[in-house]
Amino acid sequence: MSEKTPLIEVRDLHQIFGQHHVLKGVTCKIYEGETVVLLGGSGGGKSVLVKHFLGLLSPHSGDVIVEGENISKMNERQLGKVRRMMGMMFQNGALFDYMTVGQNIAFPLRQNTKAKEKEIEERVTRCLEIVKLDGQIDKMPADLSGGMRKRVALARAIVDRPKCVLYDEPHAGLDPITADSIDHLMKSLQDNQGITNVIITHEMRSVFRIADRVIFLKEGQIYWQGTPQEMKDSGDQNLTDFIEGRSREHIETI
Ligand SMILES: Nc1ncnc2c1ncn2[C@@H]1O[C@H](COP(=O)(O)OP(=O)(O)OP(=O)(O)O)[C@@H](O)[C@H]1O
Ligand SMILES: [Mg+2]
Repeated sequence: MSEKTPLIEVRDLHQIFGQHHVLKGVTCKIYEGETVVLLGGSGGGKSVLVKHFLGLLSPHSGDVIVEGENISKMNERQLGKVRRMMGMMFQNGALFDYMTVGQNIAFPLRQNTKAKEKEIEERVTRCLEIVKLDGQIDKMPADLSGGMRKRVALARAIVDRPKCVLYDEPHAGLDPITADSIDHLMKSLQDNQGITNVIITHEMRSVFRIADRVIFLKEGQIYWQGTPQEMKDSGDQNLTDFIEGRSREHIETI
């Protein structure tokens, strides 16, 4: 795998917000066709890192290279091309509440392509089938359950046939069965359509089910990377605590 050209490469990336040095020299690669899970404690910079892949944040210093091109200095028009190649499922779903499910999913096609209405309708219908929401096209987001909203967000992320999909906590707030169905969806996108998956999650069961590789972020740097099995076998306390959900700081009373 290390022979291949990476789809995304991050080199010595720093990001600073005011006094807060969030990313402190992140270097990592994402290869085409793999499912990578990004792990790490809350507030550690996972969402911030992934936003750089799309050029939604520009580095304080360092480089982000997508398909061999350095996107760090690109203008909005050039970034448009990069963003079309990547679908993003945001942490909070980010659906437009005043649009129907169908309008939400069609949005990237209307915004970024010259697709005709008939083609848009076909793509939206197909994506609704993929996420198992057939027949929900005219519903409003407010009338959907949390799991359904996640699936609409996923349909919107894949409607423009991206090469790579970035998922920010696709399992948060879902029951185990719905979380499992999201795992199947992500895996089938990889297996059947060759999509590269970059997933931020805290759901360790999913990591062991679907990840080819894990990248572990700690204190703004890549602390560790390897396969889920290697993570389990590592004997590293930070990694095993994370897998087992064990805290080392106990609050005894209020
Ligand atoms: N646009 C921004 N401006 C200022 N600070 C920001 C901005 N975006 C993120 N931060 C800060 O950067 C830090 C890392 O945030 P980030 O959202 O990447 O964490 P995370 O690892 O995704 O956490 P979680 O698991 O809780 O989602 C946080 O302290 C956050 O407040
Ligand atoms: Mg986050």
